Amino acid sequence: LLLHSAKQIVQVSNTRAQFLRGAQLQNLIVLEAKEDEGVSILVGSDGLITDIGYDGDISKKYDTSRVHRVIDASGKCVLPGLVDAHTHPVWAGDRVHEFAMKLAGATYMDVHKAGGGINFTVDHTRQAEEDHLYISLRQRLSRMLRAGTTLVECKSGYGLEVETEMKMLRVIERARRELPIGISATFLGAHSVPMYVTPEEATSNVLTVQLPFLKNLMDSGCLLVDNIDVFCEKGVFDVTQSRRILEAGQRAGLAVNFHGDELHALKAAEMGVEIGAAAVSHLEEISEEGVNAMANSDTVAVVLPTTAHILRLTPPPVRKMLDKGVVVALGSDFNPNAYCMSMPLVMHLACVTMRMTMSEALAGCTLNAAAALRKSKTHGSLEIGKRGDMIVINASRWEHLIYQLGCHQSIIDFVIVNGDIV
Ligand code: NIG
Ligand code: FE
Repeated sequence: LLLHSAKQIVQVSNTRAQFLRGAQLQNLIVLEAKEDEGVSILVGSDGLITDIGYDGDISKKYDTSRVHRVIDASGKCVLPGLVDAHTHPVWAGDRVHEFAMKLAGATYMDVHKAGGGINFTVDHTRQAEEDHLYISLRQRLSRMLRAGTTLVECKSGYGLEVETEMKMLRVIERARRELPIGISATFLGAHSVPMYVTPEEATSNVLTVQLPFLKNLMDSGCLLVDNIDVFCEKGVFDVTQSRRILEAGQRAGLAVNFHGDELHALKAAEMGVEIGAAAVSHLEEISEEGVNAMANSDTVAVVLPTTAHILRLTPPPVRKMLDKGVVVALGSDFNPNAYCMSMPLVMHLACVTMRMTMSEALAGCTLNAAAALRKSKTHGSLEIGKRGDMIVINASRWEHLIYQLGCHQSIIDFVIVNGDIV
């Protein structure tokens, strides 16, 4: 694939960024068109980026007449495909009725304790046919693709018992094999404590039933799962229980990527750093020590602007985290509580409500999100040898993707995965 005559190609960062600690954005690298010459990007038949440069240089170096797909990007900008570092996309039964309750003042935990929230979705997801779950997942992922997401983290977690958790992971596996979007799969059997069970009993079910079952499926090649997650929260799984589950996941070969310090300050961030977590999500209630610990580690902070927005929470101290050197990534947190599939909208919220710059927001849902998923060597920036995942926007400066609030349908002209237009 050859894309030529673009106004800007936003590479995001240089090759140092392929090392995890370098994932934090220092300078956004933008290749700008000259007055009489645009910029080009060439993707090979292996789906990897072959070269990036001025139009004339590329056409001199390569026999571009043999390229099978050419895009004239005159007046447009090219950015890396967006990476969504946190989603719960497999479930049945929406919760639009709870939105009204929350608008009227109910908190997330009020709804949860009244049998709503995660428990409501668990009931519906347990009853749902596997094919039905797959069809709705496919629709959601294709909407995410159209909004520019080319790599997405997908969690299980609405089963809370082995049968439904494995059903959800099979649905994610099928999507990984059949759909163009890139997927990082996460086992979240400890998303909530099932009704009539204690947190300790739920912990032991994850440790002795769900995880061993999953390990067998992974060993036999039936499932490819990347990460383990826990909802570490007061009244759900405490720090000790969370740590036991996460460390067992590590022993099974999974990367740790969990929900921490969302509604209460439990020092989950500190625990995450101690056990070498790839990422900790939410962090609205992160402590000062937690920020310092993360700043001196390779653990990525995944912040979720939609959650704080919908639940009217105070957002995490993102400005402080960035200034101290924490690697910050963004996620949509798509789930029945936060019904958002658009990373451009998430970036907009991140800039306005979390005081991120537009460059930091873009790094947050490209290179840093890829780092949270341990894929920053192959994904998350436009560099020679990395995957040809990119989006082309119909605007003369890349910042329009964030500035034009809620307009991704009209601004994104092409979404390209592995060099293929999807
Ligand atoms: O990231 N906090 C826990 N998990 C989700 C919400 C899931 C749900 O409400 O269904 C989150 O916000
Ligand atoms: Fe979540």
